Amino acid sequence: MSDDHTVTITDNRTGKSVELPVSKGTHGAQVFSLQGLHEGLGMFTYDPGYAATASCRSSITYIDGDEGTLLYRGYPIEQLAEHSDYLEVCYLLLYGELPQPAEMNKFREIINRHSMVNEGLLRFYDGFRYDAHPMAIMVGVVGALSAFYHDSTDVTDPYHREISAHRMIAKMPTLAAASYKHSVGQPIIYPDNSLGYVDNFLRMMFAVPSEPYEVNPVASRALDLMMILHADHEQNASASTVRLASSSGANPFASVAAGIASLWGPAHGGANEAVVQMLESIESVKQVPELVARAKDKSDSFRLMGFGHRIYKQYDPRAKIIRQSCHDLLNELGSTRDQPLFEIALELERIALEDDYFKERNLYPNVDFYSGIILRALGIPLSMFTVMFVMSRTVGWIAQWMEMMDDPEQRIGRPRQLYVGHSRRDYTPIDQRGD
Ligand code: SDX
Repeated sequence: MSDDHTVTITDNRTGKSVELPVSKGTHGAQVFSLQGLHEGLGMFTYDPGYAATASCRSSITYIDGDEGTLLYRGYPIEQLAEHSDYLEVCYLLLYGELPQPAEMNKFREIINRHSMVNEGLLRFYDGFRYDAHPMAIMVGVVGALSAFYHDSTDVTDPYHREISAHRMIAKMPTLAAASYKHSVGQPIIYPDNSLGYVDNFLRMMFAVPSEPYEVNPVASRALDLMMILHADHEQNASASTVRLASSSGANPFASVAAGIASLWGPAHGGANEAVVQMLESIESVKQVPELVARAKDKSDSFRLMGFGHRIYKQYDPRAKIIRQSCHDLLNELGSTRDQPLFEIALELERIALEDDYFKERNLYPNVDFYSGIILRALGIPLSMFTVMFVMSRTVGWIAQWMEMMDDPEQRIGRPRQLYVGHSRRDYTPIDQRGD
């Protein structure tokens, strides 16, 4: 919402000034539009990593990094975690309101109906080495969806946009489980639409044709909670990647594949895999102080994975929920194998939170710090951790994409730069270049 408020930027060298209109949202920092800046002062802004730049107006997710608040369409993550389920959260993120019972039943039926994948696409898996990282497979097969579903790639058609949204939400678990089955040399398990969304995934992951498979309700609830917590997080790197890729009119399947590539990085969604690798490298809590010292040592590139966040300058609210769920799950599963890892994580958290280096930089555990321990306790292999994040975040990426496609202000994303290269110079033929 814009009001009559403006900010004035003055170039102290030339005395030139420009007035820029301010807009305020429902919550959070106000923004001023830069559209008059280059015309008025002949300048661009410089904001590496976009730490202070709002790229869009959005009504999907709100984060208050100082308060540790996370709202999906206005609903606190803590309440959704306690009362909702992942597919209902998908509906909320996509359509903006909690569904009526009939709406939710119809949505569940639609998602169920799209859970299978074209047989030709499943044959792609045979082309990957048995030890291909599942994220490498997901980047490939999700992008390849656009080669099979031409009937929903006209991004200017709202119906096409909705059906491709449904297809991606529905097919991601099937594609994800298939990437795991490929890596263990087992046959791909087809979806069973009599099961719920998360139960269907667990069955596709762990069932084998030779015997019946029963979903553990404790595991199902823990995974559903994880999916809710990872569903969206406003303009994070992967969501911004999906927005930028699709701002050119690229189809949603290819744009989500770009988002998957971005999420794979250890500074982003790849952190959940990196956290468990870090915790597994610690043989006992006695080694924790040494690891914390390495994380503080500027000459050492090591960072405490699962700590820090661009927005949260205190505990990530999702980490608090996952930490408790981790504790409950390990107790309920009686999982002795993962208890030591959890205890090392608790000790690492305790020491880091007492350390001035971390306190001065507001480095707290983020969503990835404990999530890997839960996934491991559920029997999800390390290489599949970020794929789980993909499965959950697909709805967030799609909700952000649909919002952008409906936003009259949005145009192709094309940042500018500060050029620091050579001035104009003439070509020198190779025989005249000298040594
Ligand atoms: C996710 O954006 C989102 O919303 C992402 C996400 C989502 O849901 O989409 O929340 C999911 O990606 C969570 C983050 C997962 N990544 C990790 O856990 C990797 C470890 N964390 C860092 O790499 C880092 O904290 C980032 C990438 C998360 C944030 O980086 P910033 O905001 O660019 O901060 P920075 O790199 O400028 O660090 C500021 C200072 C630096 O020290 P100084 O130069 O000021 O002395 O803090 C230090 C950094 O060296 N620092 C760390 C640290 N993270 C930052 N030092 C040790 N260990 C760390 N983890």
